[in-house]
Amino acid sequence: MHGFVKLAAAAFAAIPLASALPFSVPFAASHSLAARSGLATGQGQAPKCDIFQANLAAELPANLSALIPPSNASLSQVTIGFGTQNYTCTSGKYVNVGALAQVFDISCIQELPAISANIAAVINEIQQLDGGIALENWLAKMAQWSGFKLADHYFDTSSGSLAPVFNFQVSGGDFVIGKKLQDIADPFNPTVNVDWLQLTAIAGDAAKFLVREQTAGGQPPASCSVENETLQVPYAAKYWFFA
Ligand SMILES: *[C@@H]1O[C@H](CO)[C@@H](O)[C@H](O)[C@H]1NC(C)=O
Ligand SMILES: *[C@@H]1O[C@H](CO)[C@@H](O)[C@H](O)[C@H]1NC(C)=O
Ligand SMILES: *[C@@H]1O[C@H](CO)[C@@H](O)[C@H](O)[C@H]1NC(C)=O
Ligand SMILES: *[C@@H]1O[C@H](CO)[C@@H](O)[C@H](O)[C@H]1NC(C)=O
Repeated sequence: MHGFVKLAAAAFAAIPLASALPFSVPFAASHSLAARSGLATGQGQAPKCDIFQANLAAELPANLSALIPPSNASLSQVTIGFGTQNYTCTSGKYVNVGALAQVFDISCIQELPAISANIAAVINEIQQLDGGIALENWLAKMAQWSGFKLADHYFDTSSGSLAPVFNFQVSGGDFVIGKKLQDIADPFNPTVNVDWLQLTAIAGDAAKFLVREQTAGGQPPASCSVENETLQVPYAAKYWFFA
């Protein structure tokens, strides 16, 4: 089965579980959902499980702990973003000019091996397929119908300069515009996978911090020869949102 379809199938298989059960889906935790007051409206839809024990630190190599937000920030959602990194050829190098991605809530299923193990394979397949973007749009529609899509990610200049926006309108939330605090090369294959980042909010109340890690794809070729040529490179990443 095509990798992207596999990933979608795994994700959708988990939706009834995630949306039917009131709390503590994969994480046995003493903190029930009821004990947490839920998200502020700006953060969009709250996970349908208790994510108290989801642990970014446990997922990061020890020397990348600089990516972890301050300890008083609280995790609100764990997500996967799929989309493209955009580049323009400038003096022989592809320069990043933004990104366009859709962000899906995986808070309640993020520990399923099918989710994490498939990201890289999926990107490799999408990169070789003309139909990749169409498939991605199809998944986005499905995800939106099922309430599984959390946000749109794009860049705009509403903050005064080109900056990353995460817009949670699709899930009833607000937006956040981020600024980079940390930027670390992907520890596995940095020429293929985009950097791992920690951002802090400069506007909007959908999050105070967010972390991009477990990146797959998104890097352009090392050089280019046609001035002003644009390029979109598919990528996926795990994004962690903190309030
Ligand atoms: C982290 O450690 C790995 C090897 O253990 C090394 O390749 C990598 O460059 C280090 N990264 C940083 C940001 O220090
Ligand atoms: C977290 O601590 C910093 C100072 O270290 C403070 O400025 C900030 O307001 C605190 N945030 C919360 C949510 O308590
Ligand atoms: C990035 O490319 C997509 C097409 O994949 C386009 O729709 C979007 O507007 C571009 N965004 C930026 C900031 O260049
Ligand atoms: C590339 O774009 C810049 C700014 O948009 C423009 O000034 C320049 O003439 C373009 N160069 C070529 C070779 O098209």
